[in-house]
Amino acid sequence: MEFKVPFYTYGNIYDELDIEQIKSLISSYDNKIKYKLRDEFEKKFSEYIGCKYAISVSSGTAGLHLALKAMNIKKGDEVITTPITWVATANSILLCEGKPVFADIDKDTLNISAESIKEKINSNTKAIIPVHHLGHPCEMDEINKIAKENNIKILGDCALSIGSEYKGKKIGNEEGDAHVFSFHTQKNISTLGEGGMITTNNKKIAEYADIYRNHGIVYPDRHNYKNERIKTNPWFRECIGPGYNYRLGEFQCAVGVSQLKKLEEFNKKRRGLVEYYSELLKDIKGIELPIEKDYAKSSWAYYIIKIKENEFGINRNKLFIELNKRGIGCHVHYTPIHYFEYYRNLGYKKGICKNAEELYEEILSLPLSPIMNKKDVKTVVNEIKNCKTNP
Ligand SMILES: Cc1ncc(COP(=O)(O)O)c(C=O)c1O
Repeated sequence: MEFKVPFYTYGNIYDELDIEQIKSLISSYDNKIKYKLRDEFEKKFSEYIGCKYAISVSSGTAGLHLALKAMNIKKGDEVITTPITWVATANSILLCEGKPVFADIDKDTLNISAESIKEKINSNTKAIIPVHHLGHPCEMDEINKIAKENNIKILGDCALSIGSEYKGKKIGNEEGDAHVFSFHTQKNISTLGEGGMITTNNKKIAEYADIYRNHGIVYPDRHNYKNERIKTNPWFRECIGPGYNYRLGEFQCAVGVSQLKKLEEFNKKRRGLVEYYSELLKDIKGIELPIEKDYAKSSWAYYIIKIKENEFGINRNKLFIELNKRGIGCHVHYTPIHYFEYYRNLGYKKGICKNAEELYEEILSLPLSPIMNKKDVKTVVNEIKNCKTNP
């Protein structure tokens, strides 16, 4: 179906700057390039975030998995996270043979609630993964305090928060052990569809991620690793563990560099559209608008409204279907993870996170991307009004 305003904007965020990057890499691609663009992208990303280390990976999911491994999450360890996230967050815990424990969310920001985290902690709890949902930072001071008091690690899921700030500091550089970004197509910047980045100020985590994204291979100079075999066999590279191939390719890193140059402009455009959405929607009964707390600067990865059926007249499901029929793309972020069949079979039951379950029935993500304009926003809002008056 042809959408008047599509939800997905695959491909459209690339322009001449990205094309030039790719062309220039193709014309100079030889064995001298090696990881030049990867090094450049990582350096520029760490400078932007303000952290010591940035390690590029093939996806946000790869980054979450690798970072949890670097934190030594293993069989039986419990990791607390939110059910309102992409399934990758919890899957990465299962991939380490850990146990995801779902804490409930705050109703206003849809972010994991510090109070609920406290209730879920026990002696098996080894880490917390706060997800900065829709790009709005979690209450990190409270979460960091809980982590410190209980000697628990923190891995920030920053997939949606490229450019977000918590109390004036970039997300990805606040306290916590590591943070993971995604450059999947629908994120604030993208490295040709897939990609991710781990940021950290912890040298050990950075080194682990660097080695294990590349099969567990150590290099004499890069990792200061020398043994007898290397001395006698100069070609030899040691493998110190069963790593992965989670590397991000040179061409994707090249585009990461050009995308990063445009990030602030992209995010500014998003913010402008968000303000326009809120202005046009504010007087419609039955629609609750997303908020930005005093301490927060959101990247506005998504614009999520809540539909209050009693006042709006129709429920979220009906509105979703009607908007689609009228050529407006929309989505729901996210289905609570414990609703998925695999998780149900693991024993997770409805009722474990009341706020998340209640809000799941109401949330609707409207189209938002830097390639949209005010006219698109107006079209979306007009159709929402039409659905209300003529469902
Ligand atoms: C909150 C969240 N975490 C993790 C991921 C996984 O990122 P990727 O798709 O790059 O693997 C996503 C991607 O949609 C996400 O939205």
